[in-house]
Amino acid sequence: MNQAASITWKSRWTFILAATGSAVGLGNIWKFPYITGENGGGAFVLVYLACILCIGIPVMIAEIMAGRAGRSDPIHSMLSLSRDAGGSRAWGMVGAVGMVAGLMIMMFYSVVAGWALEYVFQSASGSYNGAPAEEIEAHFGNLLSSDGQQLIWHSLFSLLTASVVAAGVTRGIGKAVEILMPLLLVFLLVLVGYSAINGNFSAGLHFMFDTDFSRLSGNAVLIAMGHAFFTLSLGMGAIMAYGAYFPGHASIGKTVLTIAALDTGIALMAGMAMFPLVFANDLTPGQGPGLMFVTLPIAFSNMSGGVFFGSLFFALVSIAALSSSISLIEPGVAWMEKRGWRRVPSTFLLGGIAWTGGVASIHYGAVFDALDYLTANIMLPIGGLLIALFVGWRLQRKVVLDETGMKGGPAFAAWYWLLRYIAPIGILIVFLHSLGLFSALGALF
Ligand code: TRP
Repeated sequence: MNQAASITWKSRWTFILAATGSAVGLGNIWKFPYITGENGGGAFVLVYLACILCIGIPVMIAEIMAGRAGRSDPIHSMLSLSRDAGGSRAWGMVGAVGMVAGLMIMMFYSVVAGWALEYVFQSASGSYNGAPAEEIEAHFGNLLSSDGQQLIWHSLFSLLTASVVAAGVTRGIGKAVEILMPLLLVFLLVLVGYSAINGNFSAGLHFMFDTDFSRLSGNAVLIAMGHAFFTLSLGMGAIMAYGAYFPGHASIGKTVLTIAALDTGIALMAGMAMFPLVFANDLTPGQGPGLMFVTLPIAFSNMSGGVFFGSLFFALVSIAALSSSISLIEPGVAWMEKRGWRRVPSTFLLGGIAWTGGVASIHYGAVFDALDYLTANIMLPIGGLLIALFVGWRLQRKVVLDETGMKGGPAFAAWYWLLRYIAPIGILIVFLHSLGLFSALGALF
């Protein structure tokens, strides 16, 4: 008996909140600003936006469609759709690899989320207030070199995630996002306002939106595409798993545009909450993962209201991380439930595996970096490529038309074309490019 089949979100809005909650996370607030900083700003932002539009949105529609049509966890959804289409059982592997990718992401994600939790308390204690920059920098260094400290916060965050997932789809995840997401939006608006008043807003705007393509490397294009997948939670079945609980048969297109617009808008707002403060304090935007944990606290320490707004900022980050991490575990839990396990032990088993990996990435920086690079830049794009090929080429057009709830017409045609041609070709080009194949060819002729 398919236990998941009868469960749905309370309404289409709860689905939008849950999917947006999954999408909006450390990717938007921690990663996006720092990779934008590292890759020179405007031109990178433009490539990222193009990837969202031409690859991310089409793949997201395909993922939700596959989940809703299969009405099960990603593995079983892919299996049953493939069977109905006369395809191979191997398509189930897309769901299986995705499940593993979710746990792998969680293995570094909850470490960073743990840092954010620590910073809520650190900022609120006022110890940064007026502190010299070296001291704030040293604090982050000390946190990174203390396995014990990180272990505490990583464990706390893992436990929070597991308790939400264990409580179930409607009572746990649905309830959580209905509270967390509006809170997140209010916090962010307050912080952008603060940054506009106290920061160098125009320098921030210039940095994020002046396009200078000479500063864009081939690797930056790969990072932009990988990030488009990461930030929309695509390529591993998270959104497919959530799609399985999509109530009714409404059109998926508009829903996805709403989610993508919220995700992109929030990433850009996070940039606008940070860069003006960075520039107002004569700090540099390109200093990498420490941007949020060093540069920003230095900025807050110099400013009036910095204790309050700094704490608010890290609370925001923690909330965003929590509504995302639950979607990293959910696909695996849904799969175990379908195999007859109960939800609570499933959650704690998978959560425990992710937690153990997290301990390894705390201790070995190389594990942390490898997990991040491998998932975002390789596994998610390949997962997305396979999902695009499956829905675009393996399923019958008639089935796809019916299951998306799109009525045909130009919107459907545009989406279908992007999914079949542009998304797969785009993903392949970016891959080959990053492997240096084009420069090798160029050298040859
Ligand atoms: N999208 C989240 C972020 O930007 C991270 C995330 C949650 C994710 N679930 C995912 C990424 C599934 C890839 C796949 O922080």
